[in-house]
Amino acid sequence: MPNPHGTDISKIRGRLLGERNLFSVSELFHENSRISRSAPRIAQSPQSALVAPSGFKRYIYAPRVALPDPSAAEADSIWDIMTSRRSGRSYSGQEIDLQCISELAFYALGTPDKGHRRCVPSGGGLYPLELYVMAARVEQLPAGLYHYDPRSHALCELGRADGLASVKKAVFIPDAVDNAAAVFILTAVFGRSKIKYGERAYRFSLLEAGHVMQNICLAATALRLGVCPVGGFVDDELNDLLDVDGVEEAVLYAALIGSLDKVDG
Ligand SMILES: Cc1cc2nc3c(=O)[nH]c(=O)nc-3n(C[C@H](O)[C@H](O)[C@H](O)COP(=O)(O)O)c2cc1C
Repeated sequence: MPNPHGTDISKIRGRLLGERNLFSVSELFHENSRISRSAPRIAQSPQSALVAPSGFKRYIYAPRVALPDPSAAEADSIWDIMTSRRSGRSYSGQEIDLQCISELAFYALGTPDKGHRRCVPSGGGLYPLELYVMAARVEQLPAGLYHYDPRSHALCELGRADGLASVKKAVFIPDAVDNAAAVFILTAVFGRSKIKYGERAYRFSLLEAGHVMQNICLAATALRLGVCPVGGFVDDELNDLLDVDGVEEAVLYAALIGSLDKVDG
């Protein structure tokens, strides 16, 4: 449409942006997850609550490692933590305490009152996210892959890990993985949220992963650990590592955690 100066703005925009991709998956997705007054796309019926799957994944037969009490944390001021958070990719290679893993997992997806509620908000309280920990340099924790069970605040050993080698291969910052102490991997079980929100559940899962990752980053900063959020990875290699199908449950985000070089004195 011509503007008051006689220029057809749509043509200029078209030229600046190049060929428009009519099949952009993100635009299609955004459209499909749109809520409008005429198409609310949210299942509000009482029946939907009855058929909603449990918000927890359980590895019933896996050996468990009980985690120490996360409330033993020494508090730093919110200002110090918020302003000193940085994405750190250089770690000392020293071990970190199991207490650190306990606190990071708890602030990520823990249940403060031992019920359903978590440390992070979740659309409809449906909690589609799961946390896996690839441990490499953690005191009292054998190297390997674990799943975090929020209800018992324990790690379930999945026993099919080759340490950090698979993670190193899958991410685009392999050098940073070498000296990491652990890698936290977040997945979404989309169906838990889809039952109420349909396609919009995908948006919610991404938003919620951001909440969890920020908690991990801030908690790691408070514990004086290095942390780097990682969104650059080959999806199927991380999905295969966790033995999830990448459709019903898929990896969304990861975090490298490591000890920072100790300051003398
Ligand atoms: C969604 C997301 C994905 C990211 N993925 C990576 C990654 O794959 N590799 C990496 O080195 N940093 C990654 N980062 C970290 C950013 O590079 C970093 O946050 C940015 O450079 C700002 O620096 P700061 O976090 O130290 O403030 C990611 C950050 C976000 C929010």
